[in-house]
Amino acid sequence: MKIKAFAPGKVILFGEHSVVHNKPAIAVAINRGVDVELTSRSDNNVTIEVPLINYSKEHELVNKKLVFELDSQNKMITDYIYEVINLFEFDTGFDLTIDIKMYLGAGLGSSAAVTVSCMKALSLFNHIEMDKKEIATKARDIEIKIQGAASPIDTSMSTYGGIIYINEEFELQRINFDMDLPLIVSNCELSGNTGQLVESVRQKYVKYPEIVGNIFNAMQEISKNAKHALENGNSEELGDLMNLNQGLLDSIGVNTVELSDMVYLSRKFGAKGSKLTGSGGGGCIIAYCPENINRIYEELSSKYPTFKCEQSDEGVYGQIIQE
Ligand code: PMV
Repeated sequence: MKIKAFAPGKVILFGEHSVVHNKPAIAVAINRGVDVELTSRSDNNVTIEVPLINYSKEHELVNKKLVFELDSQNKMITDYIYEVINLFEFDTGFDLTIDIKMYLGAGLGSSAAVTVSCMKALSLFNHIEMDKKEIATKARDIEIKIQGAASPIDTSMSTYGGIIYINEEFELQRINFDMDLPLIVSNCELSGNTGQLVESVRQKYVKYPEIVGNIFNAMQEISKNAKHALENGNSEELGDLMNLNQGLLDSIGVNTVELSDMVYLSRKFGAKGSKLTGSGGGGCIIAYCPENINRIYEELSSKYPTFKCEQSDEGVYGQIIQE
């Protein structure tokens, strides 16, 4: 038996940081994420390969379960794979290859995409029907177990795909839109610490409540306007709003020299809008490129790891390609 599954990563289009202070945000699932291939074996062995991190391990099933111990100190992307495997019992062994086609620890939701894609592949292997709601819930439980806390955004994006508006009550609403969203993601290869960055923004808010409060209010207006721009297919406005959001993120101290370099490089060569995505302090930028995408890609990729992507409307999918 051979199975293939895919789950998308995500980028935050608008509203990072202000969302922590109950302002709306917009997240997009991207058609770049994690591909999983599972092949059944006739023995009781289980092999796990993650080429991106040169990970390769072989185990043996004991009473239909895989026995493993995770290092509680060092959290690894492979922890998510083992936790998913632990949800199931197996009659035979299998070879599992997890091909992560995006950056780790860069705010793109790689752990959620790994979790969700593995869950899809392993449920198909076991002939267990798991609907998207169950996948999203179980994937989030695993994120909470490993990370201690997790918002439902990453696991929802990986499962359902599309573009999601996170409102002031932190409810996730799908945005219906009918426009292409050609994006470039560029990674400065330094990683920011999300917890520390969120805390530094909170301290600024405490110190300058009027000023930072009004910056959050402006970010709120940006997310609201962006929702309408997406619904109405207004690409000019969408780009403007990204640039406005970037300026405000800079003002609260989460931008960096490298992120700025990528942002301005993409604008110089024709991006309609560009901004950091996620917590900042490092990580990635996104550039919205309805025109000039190849030129912008060339310029960015000559200096930074870069990929092109679009929204993923479908979310997780998988199929048995050979019985
Ligand atoms: O880097 P990411 O994708 O985990 O995004 C962090 C977004 C913040 O708003 C900074 C924090 C949060 O929990 O929403």
